[in-house]
Amino acid sequence: MKVVHTIEELRDQLRGQLRVAFVPTMGNLHAAHLSLMKLARQHGDPVVASIFVNRLQFAPNEDFDRYPRTLADDVAKLEAARDVYVLFAPDEREMYPEPQNFRIQPSKALGKILEGEFRPGFFMGVSTVVLKLFSCVQPQVAVFGKKDYQQLMVVRAMCRQFQLPVEILAHETVRDTDGLALSSRNRYLTAAERAEAPNLYGLLQRVRDQVRSGSLDVADLEAQAMHTLRGRGWDPDYVALRRQRDLLAPSADEIRTGEPLVVLTAARLGATRLIDNLEFQAGPPA
Ligand code: PAF
Repeated sequence: MKVVHTIEELRDQLRGQLRVAFVPTMGNLHAAHLSLMKLARQHGDPVVASIFVNRLQFAPNEDFDRYPRTLADDVAKLEAARDVYVLFAPDEREMYPEPQNFRIQPSKALGKILEGEFRPGFFMGVSTVVLKLFSCVQPQVAVFGKKDYQQLMVVRAMCRQFQLPVEILAHETVRDTDGLALSSRNRYLTAAERAEAPNLYGLLQRVRDQVRSGSLDVADLEAQAMHTLRGRGWDPDYVALRRQRDLLAPSADEIRTGEPLVVLTAARLGATRLIDNLEFQAGPPA
């Protein structure tokens, strides 16, 4: 694997390649990232990964400074997995050589709800850096994880609306054996919090089961779920039952007739904010 730090070196490595598959990351790689690389490998050659902690997507009160930077470990993991041909690991000066005055701002309907409501500027930061990374790597295919469900939708919409010739592939959320979605932020959890953390996924499964057994009142389901989380010591930002296609709330009729749904949540456990989601369909009664 070649590790390059500049756009010029990256372009040198990729000259003439026709089916580059790309996996953008912020590093601190774990098994979920490695499965994104595996999926990329099945859809393109060569595979390029990037590691860049993007200041633009962090609010001033967020964890930009303490976000784990573990490049040497990350390189060792990628070398061992043997799926990546080039790792692009630029520094801030390479990615933002001057103040970034041109920024991509997703519309209110997608960019200011759910994560966008609680993390103002997040999707602007993500879309802007993903567009810049796409412009550096010029991939034909790029892989994103479904754990960041709304991010995946924002990136898809950006590619569609700017006619970017990049096919976006989604990878299922990778979970620990107890159900906790893998995330770089799990390392912030204390032992007691780590033991509690899988209950976030348990809660999503419970909402799904309630819907499947006939509960149609979205506001009530969400309020109950928030209440349960608070009772277990979480500080939830949201639990939201939405349509997969546009993240709007489904009507009772849509739920009844099998609209594809997703229940999404973000909640703080101690100092750590975790997100998760679960796709499902209620379907018409058998
Ligand atoms: O999901 C992430 O790790 C980041 O948001 C991304 C897509 C690499 C952009 O910085």
